[in-house]
Amino acid sequence: MTLIYENMLSSPQETFNLGLEFSHRISAGAILLFKGDLGAGKTTCIKGVCAGLGVRQAVTSPSFTLINEYRGRIPVYHFDFYRIQSEREAIDLGLQEYFEGDGVCLIEWPDVLANLLPKKHYDFHLNWDVDYPPDTRHVVIYAQEE
Ligand SMILES: Nc1ncnc2c1ncn2[C@@H]1O[C@H](COP(=O)(O)OP(=O)(O)OP(=O)(O)O)[C@@H](O)[C@H]1O
Ligand SMILES: [Mg+2]
Repeated sequence: MTLIYENMLSSPQETFNLGLEFSHRISAGAILLFKGDLGAGKTTCIKGVCAGLGVRQAVTSPSFTLINEYRGRIPVYHFDFYRIQSEREAIDLGLQEYFEGDGVCLIEWPDVLANLLPKKHYDFHLNWDVDYPPDTRHVVIYAQEE
């Protein structure tokens, strides 16, 4: 596990921009996990990644559908597993095929997937605390190697 980024971001725009810049580091097959509390900024960061990948559709958390697919320069698969209870639901969704597919997987609330994840992925941790100034988030990114 390699720490590749750590910072305090002081506006939604900065969090978006982090995602936008990060998108230039990834290509088909990349898996990005977004962890952190409700409202931490996971979707905001994902919007930036999507913009950087050329997605022009609206990007919103697929809380009920579990997955949104967007067309960018490469396909973008946006998952939100906040509501699922078991790995089974993710397997039934065809998660493994998405992992082996032709696009990028961006996953909010990935904890339930612990045993399904390929070893190589990126972990985004977004957090906020009552002590932080308004609109501030702490963001850490780790690269998980094979
Ligand atoms: N520095 C910041 N970075 C990101 N979002 C911020 C920041 N400061 C304030 N916000 C606000 O916090 C909210 C973040 O919402 P967002 O949907 O991105 O969070 P989320 O982690 O995806 O939440 P959920 O768990 O509900 O999916 C937005 O309303 C955004 O405007
Ligand atoms: Mg979200």
